[in-house]
Amino acid sequence: MNPTLARQTAKLSKDIPGWFSQEASMLFAWIDEIQKRNNIKGDCFEIGCHHGKSALMLATMVDVGSEKLSVCDLFGQQADNVSRSGNGDLDAFNLNMQQRRQAGVGINIFQKNSADLTVEEIGNNYRVFHVDGGHNPDEALIDLKLAADCTIESGVIVLDDPFRMEWPGVTEALIRFLDERPDYRAIMTGFNKLVLAREKWSGIYLAALESDEQRKEYGFSYPWRVKQMPFHNTELRVFYVPDYLQRKSIGNAARWVYNKSDWLSGTRKKRAAIRAMNSSGA
Ligand SMILES: C[S@@+](CC[C@H](N)C(=O)[O-])C[C@H]1O[C@@H](n2cnc3c(N)ncnc32)[C@H](O)[C@@H]1O
Repeated sequence: MNPTLARQTAKLSKDIPGWFSQEASMLFAWIDEIQKRNNIKGDCFEIGCHHGKSALMLATMVDVGSEKLSVCDLFGQQADNVSRSGNGDLDAFNLNMQQRRQAGVGINIFQKNSADLTVEEIGNNYRVFHVDGGHNPDEALIDLKLAADCTIESGVIVLDDPFRMEWPGVTEALIRFLDERPDYRAIMTGFNKLVLAREKWSGIYLAALESDEQRKEYGFSYPWRVKQMPFHNTELRVFYVPDYLQRKSIGNAARWVYNKSDWLSGTRKKRAAIRAMNSSGA
């Protein structure tokens, strides 16, 4: 999805209650764009919809006519929501999907415990599989394993709350999953999401994530930074804003203006180029 449509969709999802930041929206749109540029086609699946905040982005990513969105949530069966994560509401979900349905998007709903889903039931043609349902270790692990079995070779699994203090069960599930499925690796984390891809396809995602130009297009230039940290035998790309830049201060306000102004940053780039030329003796 191009950055303009991504921003419009992220803006629409702002009014929907739930847990899906504007940055997470832009990340989903970016993944979609990487897949489209690499001719990767398939459906999208989400476990855990609440009111459809993240599902709205997925429903905008799918190609009307050739792809569909499928979702699973307990919705009215909240007695089975043992980890008390979210509180699905089918009426609210349907209302928030109305516009996408009218645009022709096919949306399948599995109203049940995700632990009871099978590959035979949902198929295995998913290019993006968002795991955001039950947050206990066994719940999240079952969902990750299903996602791994249903995602196409070149697709990705996106896991919610991978490293949140409030939800240690998801971290446990992630590590157990990576131990059991060495064909998958964690490629990046940020915005409360973690992206997993099959090792042999991770290169296309990493190449895009490392492009300064694409990072800027999707809103991940200043104040965002990316570092590589060892995690489960790979180098995980971590998107973050340093603590000192999160504080409200006059200095940070000035930094913001300086970094966001094309004129100022253009001047800065020119100065850096001149410095580089001088030091190389060119
Ligand atoms: C954190 S919320 C999802 C947030 C949502 N993705 C958003 O964008 O706001 C978790 C959802 O998972 C659902 N859920 C919890 N346990 C589940 C289970 N075992 N099977 C299916 N859905 C479950 C809840 O009803 C809730 O709607």
